[in-house]
Amino acid sequence: MRIIEAKDYQDMSRKAAHILAAQVTLKPESVLGLATGSTPIGTYDCLAEWCKSGDLDFSKAATVNLDEYRGLDHDNDQSYYYFMNKHLYSRINIDPSRTHVPDGTQPDPAKESRRYEELIRSLGGVDIQLLGIGHDGHIGFNEPNSFFDGDTHCVDLTEMTIEANKRFFASADEVPRQAYTMGIGTIMRARKLLMIISGEDKADITAAALCGEVTPQVPASIIQFHPDVTVIADPAALSKVKR
Ligand code: F6R
Repeated sequence: MRIIEAKDYQDMSRKAAHILAAQVTLKPESVLGLATGSTPIGTYDCLAEWCKSGDLDFSKAATVNLDEYRGLDHDNDQSYYYFMNKHLYSRINIDPSRTHVPDGTQPDPAKESRRYEELIRSLGGVDIQLLGIGHDGHIGFNEPNSFFDGDTHCVDLTEMTIEANKRFFASADEVPRQAYTMGIGTIMRARKLLMIISGEDKADITAAALCGEVTPQVPASIIQFHPDVTVIADPAALSKVKR
């Protein structure tokens, strides 16, 4: 595992964007695994800027996102598809038909989960997966005590995650209670992992995930077993990591 200490959030974002940009430059038809949340917004801003200036070309790339709330359609401004379109897809020259997010409107969870796994397989697998980390150590919506070998599936969100995500909704009551997420097995099959972490509030979980025991209680700790992981974090997030 490579741990890169960035100067601050902006520096973390630029460094992560450089890695994703290099991936697309070296392999234009790359499949990028992407994440939502506050952490990757700066990274997406950089990618959009470099695409606008002509330095980056996404015309042959495809994207697959980690997760989506169950019950929300693409036009719902709280859906992860909407987020991705706002922060990235609409700002780069990617073919919209090559941008994929689990379909939150699918009523049959088993069918949608199977479809998403098959889609990833048919694209040739994920070349690089961008990850954030939740305060409880979740990756995607894989909450503590998820199966390490799980595929895409439908999950019940924990109270901690509902609480953390209510900032995007009018109230906690409006946060959907379920979501589709790539499983930890799906995430671990990506050829490369790129985790970005920012802020002092993530210091404890960062130390647990990167240096603690690999345990389903800290889902992100599984990345210690991946052969090609880069973590880019700011000094606050790394403050409890002993090096
Ligand atoms: C979102 C996702 C989540 C977030 C995590 C951190 O697609 O996969 O696991 O990465 O909840 O979110 P932020 O970046 O908002 O702290």
